Amino acid sequence: MINRDTITRIMDTAIIEEVIGDFVHLKRAGTTFKGLSPFSNERTPSFFVVPHKGIYKDFSSGKGGNVVDFLMEHEKLNYPEALRWLASKYNIEIEEETPSEDQIKERSDREQLSIVTEFARKFFEDQMHDTEEGQAIGLSYFKERGFRDDIIRKFQLGYSPEQRDALTKEALSKGYSQEFLEKTGLTRQRDGGAPYDFFRGRVMFPIHNVSGKVIAFGGRTLKSEKDIAKYFNSPESELYHKSKVLYGIHLAKQSIVKNDICYLVEGYTDVISLVQAGVENVVGSSGTSLTEDQIRLIRRYTFNVTILYDGDAAGIRASFRGINMLLEQGMNVKVVLFPDGDDPDGFSKKVSSSELQEYLTKNAMDFMVFKTNQLLGDVGNDPVKRAGLIRDIVESIAVIPDTIKRNVYLQECSRLMNMREAVLIAEMNKMLVQRSKKGSTARPNESINEEISDWTDEAEREEFDLYHQERDYVRLLLAYGEHIIELPVENEDGHTEMVQVAMAEFLIGSLEQDGLVLEAPEFAKVYNEYVDFIAREEFPEPRHFTLNPDQEISALSSDLLTTQYALSLNWTARHNIHPETEDMLLRKAAKDCIFRLKLRKVMQNSKNIIKEMEEAGDNQEKLAELLSEKILLDKARSEIAKYFGSVVLE
Ligand code: CTP
Ligand code: MN
Repeated sequence: MINRDTITRIMDTAIIEEVIGDFVHLKRAGTTFKGLSPFSNERTPSFFVVPHKGIYKDFSSGKGGNVVDFLMEHEKLNYPEALRWLASKYNIEIEEETPSEDQIKERSDREQLSIVTEFARKFFEDQMHDTEEGQAIGLSYFKERGFRDDIIRKFQLGYSPEQRDALTKEALSKGYSQEFLEKTGLTRQRDGGAPYDFFRGRVMFPIHNVSGKVIAFGGRTLKSEKDIAKYFNSPESELYHKSKVLYGIHLAKQSIVKNDICYLVEGYTDVISLVQAGVENVVGSSGTSLTEDQIRLIRRYTFNVTILYDGDAAGIRASFRGINMLLEQGMNVKVVLFPDGDDPDGFSKKVSSSELQEYLTKNAMDFMVFKTNQLLGDVGNDPVKRAGLIRDIVESIAVIPDTIKRNVYLQECSRLMNMREAVLIAEMNKMLVQRSKKGSTARPNESINEEISDWTDEAEREEFDLYHQERDYVRLLLAYGEHIIELPVENEDGHTEMVQVAMAEFLIGSLEQDGLVLEAPEFAKVYNEYVDFIAREEFPEPRHFTLNPDQEISALSSDLLTTQYALSLNWTARHNIHPETEDMLLRKAAKDCIFRLKLRKVMQNSKNIIKEMEEAGDNQEKLAELLSEKILLDKARSEIAKYFGSVVLE
């Protein structure tokens, strides 16, 4: 074990931009560095290193952390390996600490469980490859299903012998404790009886965590009797939480990032077959309906999910539930159905690898089209059912956190169902109001907050939030600055009248009114250029930004403008929908954006004031001054909270 002092010395010495600079071409941008993300194939840099904070953040994949985290992620090292890597770069001598007897004893339950589980994995694998029974029954089963040797090894598939205590006996004789064998569920014992194996005569699918450690097993029976459960799965333990695991994630994660899409299937064998066919960015939900933790796990690597389900009615129904959860978390969702009720495993065996890959890309259907088609088929001309269908679909759209994306879907929905868009909007607004009354789901910032929920440092987290709000602001400015929106304004005699203003005037005015500026230098630059135009009563052409000689401006604005329009353009081309009608919800988008930005700023200022108050000590005058500032901020904050409804913003 590396001792504490050494760890401190390593952390103090390592220069994050230098280390990351070994792998990523970094360019200075103010007090930070930026470069192209090493975790995705991006063309405009969204990878940042912030030296004074000792952290990096990759906006394209969502990864972030300190220098050790970077090495662990990029070089696939574990914690001590990453420390050793740094020690050798900076010539730091490592002082080792030998663990005491007590420390060894104290090794956590989890570690013990992990050791036992790893032993069992090896046992099952050896049984399958090296024993007569294993080869004749287990291995030949996998071969019959068409799994190649390298794939069988890659997934560490195995076989549990028929004998009632093969594993338990072997483990006990090797000195593994029965207590932990039982805690993993591998061994069972009834009162007074001899201990026996939970998995017997089954082919074994080890289940791994993200970093590739075995944490559980699924065991498939080879018998076809109806009363025997097809799969036995390890019970929950401190090591294994079913709802947080995705089968195959340890093998898929890099490919998910590289391809910026994750294929989601149901079964172990579906994952394995797809990987064998060259589709590596695939994970399995293991039969249960998708959980939030599983979705969050995927979202560490991509925002794009394509669900591959067999086309039977049950499979389709199950996928609807999963889809709403995915949408709610801000994911982009597509669905692929296979012909003749095949599952991915079955289908992949019937076609070549390139045919499969082509099928997946060609047949990925947007969830809206998919769901509408499915339900329209059931409904026919029955008006009552039709109303139910509309509600059902609008409900799916209403969970999408992004206003503009929601709007595009409403248009599409209106076209598919031949239904006026205004009716759908009214229906959706009703739902949104209901949800915000319930409180919990309508948090305006949900997706961003969760995205960074693994950032433990409050201050960093807030800064990151602010960055996103500013980005959103500049995005609206660039994409919609010229659009006219209607705003209610109070005139002299206290009446409200509607006035028309350009989006840019509203956005800029709202900031100037409170004397606010954008903090991120790249956003401030774009903002200031834009303000110059408005001051001359002109609107800048998008070209002015995207072809700007200042590369930072051109890269940023191209990025913002392309991500902005990607979705709409797609729809426009395919379905003749004009993005102009997006204006309807634009006013709300603009207001939301301004309020969120202000809220972030208010929260940041409050934090600073509290800190200053702590530092002010006994200086009463200063304290009083700070306190009155604080009161103003709190008032502003509750005003903003009012705008977002009764939702508490913390
Ligand atoms: N499953 C389970 N327990 C069961 C049945 C299914 O845990 N009794 C889970 C497994 O993770 C399984 C997934 O649900 O992989 C999908 O089930 P199914 O399609 O029935 O199994 P496959 O893995 O496709 O198995 P096979 O192709 O061998 O029939
Ligand atoms: Mn199957």
